[in-house]
Amino acid sequence: MELLDALKLQCEWGADEALAETPQDRRNAAPPVPLAFQKPPSPRRIPPATLAGPEDAALLAAACMSLDELEAAMRGFSGCALRDTATQLVFADGAADARLVIIGEAPGAEEDRAGKPFIGPAGQLLDKMLGSIGLDRTKARIINTVPWRPPGNRTPTESEIALCLPFLHRHIALIAPAGLVILGAVAAKALLGIEAQNGIRRVRGRWQQVRIEGLPTTLPALPSYHPAYLLRTPLAKRESWQDMLQLRAWLETQT
Ligand code: URA
Repeated sequence: MELLDALKLQCEWGADEALAETPQDRRNAAPPVPLAFQKPPSPRRIPPATLAGPEDAALLAAACMSLDELEAAMRGFSGCALRDTATQLVFADGAADARLVIIGEAPGAEEDRAGKPFIGPAGQLLDKMLGSIGLDRTKARIINTVPWRPPGNRTPTESEIALCLPFLHRHIALIAPAGLVILGAVAAKALLGIEAQNGIRRVRGRWQQVRIEGLPTTLPALPSYHPAYLLRTPLAKRESWQDMLQLRAWLETQT
């Protein structure tokens, strides 16, 4: 009974993840082979998935020549600690040849369970926003800045974002879309380098040019508020609607 009470107390305090009893000391993990000693990957050979740092993520991502290879490489990548607390990788939803890629922050609890991005309350709002301009998931590619759920839905750290960034760039490069929609401060910071929080307010609704590793030209990208923010701040939906209208006008020029 005491144990049950202790568990209930933890739930009341907000604990929603069962983590390991003993912490892992990642500093004592086998050091990765310095890049200078690694052979550059041949185009068709994916390096072993045990590589772990940001440079290793870049090497691994660059060697992926298809979305299937990228998904397999990300599943095997052990460098991001979020992988240990998440249920699974949340890779993507939508079309592999989409003209538009929509980038969110990170999976939440429902996405983590289902392995699919944007299916919880924020995702349902995103579906409505897309529907309002005649779009749906099958006509876009939906991905996240970080593909594993951070425990308790906390904001991903800078180092987690940096580790996952090569995979995000590679995902976009393999799709080679005509443009991007950047949802929220975390994705804006990762792709535009602008300061989070206030940054999204300054740039939302204004098309930016983003350089994606592996693509020959920059891509137009429209930053907008994250649907989770809109659920908390309904007044911002007005600005978001203006952004959707801009997106629709731009999409019309693409057909
Ligand atoms: N919020 C995100 O940014 N991505 C998801 O997949 C779900 C919620």
